[in-house]
Amino acid sequence: MKRRDFIKSTGLSTLTALMGSSVLLKACHTEEDMIGEPNWIVEVGFDTPLPTIPEVTGSVELTAKTISDEMINGKMTSILSYRDGLLGPIIRADSGSTVNVRLDNNLSEDTNIHWHGLVLPSEMEGHPKDVTASGNAFQYSLPIMQRAGTYWYHPHPEGATARQVFMGLAGMFIVTDNEEAALQLPSGEFEIPLIIQDKRFAGPSLDYSPTDDEIMTGYLCENIIVNGVFAPVASVANTWYRLRLLNGSTARVYNLALTHGIAFHIVGSDGGLLEKPDHAMNILLGPGERADVLVDFSSLSMGDEVFLVSDKFSKYNAQGRQSFSVLKFKIERSVSSNFTLPSFLSSLTRLMEPSAIKTRTFDITGMADGSEGHDGMGGHAINNKSYSIGRVDETVEAGTTEIWEFDNVAGDEIHPMHIHGVQFQVLQRIGGRNDLIATEKGWKDTVLVMPGERVRIIMTFPEYKGLFVLHCHNLEHEDDGMMSNYEIV
Ligand code: C2O
Ligand code: CU
Repeated sequence: MKRRDFIKSTGLSTLTALMGSSVLLKACHTEEDMIGEPNWIVEVGFDTPLPTIPEVTGSVELTAKTISDEMINGKMTSILSYRDGLLGPIIRADSGSTVNVRLDNNLSEDTNIHWHGLVLPSEMEGHPKDVTASGNAFQYSLPIMQRAGTYWYHPHPEGATARQVFMGLAGMFIVTDNEEAALQLPSGEFEIPLIIQDKRFAGPSLDYSPTDDEIMTGYLCENIIVNGVFAPVASVANTWYRLRLLNGSTARVYNLALTHGIAFHIVGSDGGLLEKPDHAMNILLGPGERADVLVDFSSLSMGDEVFLVSDKFSKYNAQGRQSFSVLKFKIERSVSSNFTLPSFLSSLTRLMEPSAIKTRTFDITGMADGSEGHDGMGGHAINNKSYSIGRVDETVEAGTTEIWEFDNVAGDEIHPMHIHGVQFQVLQRIGGRNDLIATEKGWKDTVLVMPGERVRIIMTFPEYKGLFVLHCHNLEHEDDGMMSNYEIV
């Protein structure tokens, strides 16, 4: 029997048991709404100031360790950390520079760091085979050869990625360049990195314990955290802001929107600037994806409260049935600005289909047979194979262009597919939504493939030879085996 047959809703019971009487549910939800939505999201507060995550440049030292931190309602819980709070520092680097990062592993298990979205030599990019043992250190040397953009970093040990990320190990990595600087986009206090995650607690403790059902749906949690803080408020001025949005959740997809009819002016996606700003009221952001957006608060008055929300988005299995608030912006200062939205941002070279020497199709609907996977029930798979660290699944040639297709037409789960070592362009989405969204018109490293969809991407492999992975960035799926090795030769 497949695990997916067991999927059921646990409804409100977990939530009420968890949060006790402090919970104020915003609205009543119908039975129909609840189908397949395992746990209902908690919406209280929005009075804790949004913290500013410290930024580092140049040589960076990250020590992975267990610490105690105040996560929610003033309660202390044990987390994993690269600094003194949830989430690592924001690393900021110029394109063309080399960033040196020393990782000290003070955990009691293996860890490593994958630089999500950066194109790096295989031995520096955090392949699951390259882990640092407990008590050891590793020196990463990262030649930053790519465009300005919002990237990120997180551990990637086999079978433990989801838990280590969930417990706090992740951070943003911002690359800057002259082209972007010339645009004079809002910066300093007007540039706000927002790392969105969902967390679960058992009593006061952060709790990572997905059930078999939750390995199928992903570990969808009740508490939405931004920059490490539950239900925060950002004090802002009535002017333009740049929001660097990162979905750092293990499995949850957000359909982001702003209240008060405020639009997103999308300027960048996973791999940097778009050609020109694209206007959208909603952005569907899957785990691992980023969106670089400008928002104009100048029509708002002092005291106005605008929410960043996640709207309902569908009847997909277990996700998108609830709308909820993520973050509150409170307009508290008046600032005049003469910023105008640039009409052109950056030139993008389109990769043309005829330049591809090969098309590969990846079936992402199936489970491996019972002999594979982590629990003998058959794990998540790509082309019906669960991940094997020593097996090379695909071999590609450096410098060549290929088309890859992720086929989820017959599937019933959401899969955000991510490829290491390369940035790609999305050619086409066939079936399901049948279209590309604004953030998919630039360079990407992660793409959402919904049930019923086949997504075609194109990319040119870099000259870095060696082993890389492609995997589902639903980290529960990844750790359950939904990952393959590919080698650049
Ligand atoms: Cu952000 Cu292989 O992952
Ligand atoms: Cu998946």
